[in-house]
Amino acid sequence: MENDTGTDGAVVQIRGVSKRFPGVQALEDVTLDIRPGEIHAVAGENGAGKSTLMKLLSQLERPSDGTIEIDGKRVRFRNPRYAQQLGIAMVHQEFALAPHLTVADNLALGREKTRAGLIVRGSQKQRARELLERVRLDIDPGRRVESLSVADRQRVEIAKALAVDAKVVIMDEPTATLTEHEIDDLFELIEELKSDGIAIFYISHRLEEVVRIADRVTVMRDGKVVETLDKGDFDESRLVSLMVGREIDNLYPKQESEIGDVILRVQGVTRPGILDDCSFEVHAGEILGFAGLIGAGRTELARAVFAADPIKEGTIELDGQELNLSSPSEAIAAGIGYLTEDRKGDGLAMQLSVEHNITLARIPGAGMWIDRRREREVAERRREELDIRTPSVRTPVEALSGGTQQKVVVARWLETDARVLFFDEPTRGIDVGAKAELFKLMGSLAADGRAIVLISSYLPELINMCDRIVVLRDGRTVGEMNRNEFDEERIMALASGVDREAA
Ligand SMILES: Nc1ncnc2c1ncn2[C@@H]1O[C@H](COP(=O)(O)OP(=O)(O)OP(=O)(O)O)[C@@H](O)[C@H]1O
Ligand SMILES: [Mg+2]
Repeated sequence: MENDTGTDGAVVQIRGVSKRFPGVQALEDVTLDIRPGEIHAVAGENGAGKSTLMKLLSQLERPSDGTIEIDGKRVRFRNPRYAQQLGIAMVHQEFALAPHLTVADNLALGREKTRAGLIVRGSQKQRARELLERVRLDIDPGRRVESLSVADRQRVEIAKALAVDAKVVIMDEPTATLTEHEIDDLFELIEELKSDGIAIFYISHRLEEVVRIADRVTVMRDGKVVETLDKGDFDESRLVSLMVGREIDNLYPKQESEIGDVILRVQGVTRPGILDDCSFEVHAGEILGFAGLIGAGRTELARAVFAADPIKEGTIELDGQELNLSSPSEAIAAGIGYLTEDRKGDGLAMQLSVEHNITLARIPGAGMWIDRRREREVAERRREELDIRTPSVRTPVEALSGGTQQKVVVARWLETDARVLFFDEPTRGIDVGAKAELFKLMGSLAADGRAIVLISSYLPELINMCDRIVVLRDGRTVGEMNRNEFDEERIMALASGVDREAA
């Protein structure tokens, strides 16, 4: 392919790079380059090797084979700090910043101005201001990172990349936790970095973003480069077929199912300062969507029903019986499941095996003895069904790719007998093929007479998959519509409160 020789002008040239983990060939003979001012997207299914490739570049992992050149010079492998000095910056999602430190401190970390061993606070703040201005973030650098929104934290991350004069900025799924509006803002900023000559590696499962923003796309499959395409030579369906090696005809396999009686009825649920008089119901066989901006209270409402947080007022009825739950394990026992949006936090036990994680949700009812053989059978079945790519069901979850971890969370909840299942941003980080599979599963769970609540910040998902949508704003349920009334603009207007009168 044309880029095999394209070293001229490349800021980074990756040549014949491979990476082996025990039992997994994560990368094999990968050749790829990126030029100054280029937005180079890397696309591929879960486990294709995208993050691993970026970890080699940022020296978080050592290549098993091959070479990496920066500005035409072959670089030695040392450590992430060294990669940073060479101009490689990785924009992590929120976790990479120190939450309890101020923005200014975070921006100074790693390159502390230690004149005679002291951090010079004044100049540090000034420098922070300049950096924040470049990413157009209008906040006080003295604020603690933990008080910022996800989108703002991301901007601080990008500012941090600028602080070390990055030549290459790596963004691994930067939009996963952003609203549509925040995504537009991020894209604007990316275009600015580009015009400053910074090269950007952009990884996303949202292919319409890739088509919109990328100058070139490299598609990976099973650790290998399938093809690198120039702008104009790719669209979504071309990318999909290269990624999965086949056509996916229906991204949203909506299954019509009989809508039955109300299973869950939530009335007037209130948690001071967080939820205010929230009401909704969901029927057997129904997929109900929760739409709203980040911070609207969708997760909080799900958590309240799941008894993960206490409520001050309101009632929750399951099959006509009022519940009085005081903990998630009671909620699970009553038949309510909640697939959290935060797989790292309370979603998964990272050090435990895939099979343990899949069968974990059952444990509350299982007593002391866990049947290992049955555990393995169950895990193997789900592994096949969801195409969970792992060397073995005994592999610890931390060794799986991001999207594969998410599938394990889904598998776990499928194992419960829950009558009502909340899926909170379930497709985050999941590839196209797996998304369609997950939606199919949701459909069959509904057809099976369960009630499903789908929380998603991605409107096409809600519009295509739900029977009904409830819109939340500022902790309140502010609107509701049936499938035949779905309208993207109207949902956005309700969610953002721009047409308060109409609501
Ligand atoms: N530390 C590790 N130990 C063992 N295997 C690993 C490790 N890190 C990654 N792998 C394996 O390497 C392969 C590539 O993973 P990688 O995270 O690069 O995929 P990805 O393309 O980023 O996928 P996703 O879209 O799900 O994020 C996977 O099979 C994964 O299980
Ligand atoms: Mg990844």
